[in-house]
Amino acid sequence: MSTKTTLGIFGLGTVGTGVVDLLRDNPQFDIRAISVRDRAKQRDFDFSEFEMNQDPFKLADDPTIEILVEVAGGIDPAYEVVKRAIINGKHIVTANKEMIAKHGPELFALANQHKVTIFFEAAVGGGIPLISTLQRGLQANKVSRVAGIVNGTTNYILTKMEREQKSFADALAEAQAAGFAEADPSDDILGRDVVYKITILSSLAFQAPIEVEKIYRQGITEITDLDIKLAREFGYRIKMIGLAQRGENPGNSDALDVRVHPMLVPLTHPLAGVDGVNNAIFISGSAVGEIMLMGPGAGRYPTASAVVGDVINIASAIKLPDFAQYFQLPISSNVSQVMPIDESENGYYIRLETHDSPGVIGHLGSAFGNHGVSLHSFTQRGVTEDGTATIVLLTHRVKEKQLQAALKEITDNPTTKQIGVVLRVLS
Ligand code: HSE
Repeated sequence: MSTKTTLGIFGLGTVGTGVVDLLRDNPQFDIRAISVRDRAKQRDFDFSEFEMNQDPFKLADDPTIEILVEVAGGIDPAYEVVKRAIINGKHIVTANKEMIAKHGPELFALANQHKVTIFFEAAVGGGIPLISTLQRGLQANKVSRVAGIVNGTTNYILTKMEREQKSFADALAEAQAAGFAEADPSDDILGRDVVYKITILSSLAFQAPIEVEKIYRQGITEITDLDIKLAREFGYRIKMIGLAQRGENPGNSDALDVRVHPMLVPLTHPLAGVDGVNNAIFISGSAVGEIMLMGPGAGRYPTASAVVGDVINIASAIKLPDFAQYFQLPISSNVSQVMPIDESENGYYIRLETHDSPGVIGHLGSAFGNHGVSLHSFTQRGVTEDGTATIVLLTHRVKEKQLQAALKEITDNPTTKQIGVVLRVLS
């Protein structure tokens, strides 16, 4: 009998090719078959030595395969393929953040029932060993906060816009060409990719699942070069952040404060120095204090590194009886509530356009004052030919619902042309 661990690989895109390339010469593994969407597609490597098919359910049903490696992404058909493979007694290694975020609890329960494991290190943070850190390394801690830059594409875009004065569109096109962006880049720039990732991180950090659709999300498409420049002058850099923390609301104390939006990160905060396609996760734990893990968050080999690490971990234990039970996730089946964004508390950066007329500043001051919003800094940038003044303000920390009430009063005033962007400040 072969002593090699047998694998089926589903997906041969950017990550899949990296995985097969790292595993192909490893004598410990036997890649039995690879399932692809399009067999005829031109690839960066010659994979003709492998059996290829276009039906991933064949992998799920193949009794000679011990581990199914799912690197196809998306829900359909990955979710059904993975379920079938679990029922057929296969261990799963997946990079699929959307599937784990949306169906993780159900898949973990199914895996427990069938005495197999699901490893998903590559689902968040690309090559950074982050999932295993939360699952195992930090077990002695009560985690109070996870704040992360977990999307390489948006971090790459914001860095390029700042450092090279690139337009948003040019920076996005470069990220796509480099293979970081999702198939549909709106998942990156509108924040859906970060929602999936913070859902997974929150579930691990607080040991309770949360629902993807309850998470507030704001993308980076409204951010201009002026915002990046002014944020810097105020002492911040703008970063796309996934945040998960225990709520501070006494009336709703069990609810978690989980959200995804760009934030002004103080230049003194370690997350402010994370550039390009790098990801970083800042974790506050009761025993360890504060730690930050940083590294390449996307790309062929960094992500393949995490996938292959999982494969090797499973292979090292696969011959032991009942090993799967030692990898059960300690996640409760009770879904945790997510605090509504209105209840969150933040400092705010607000860019708005007004008519350049007497009393505008007085009106803004009263609108903020009427709702208990205290201003921290203020600047007015020039006046355009059509008489538009751009005003940028920073507030002290205040509840979101108070800020929104002030913004409504400001919008309703005829001197206001439009609110350009509202960003939150990390504290
Ligand atoms: N599009 C993702 C990113 C790939 O940019 O981070 C890794 O999940």
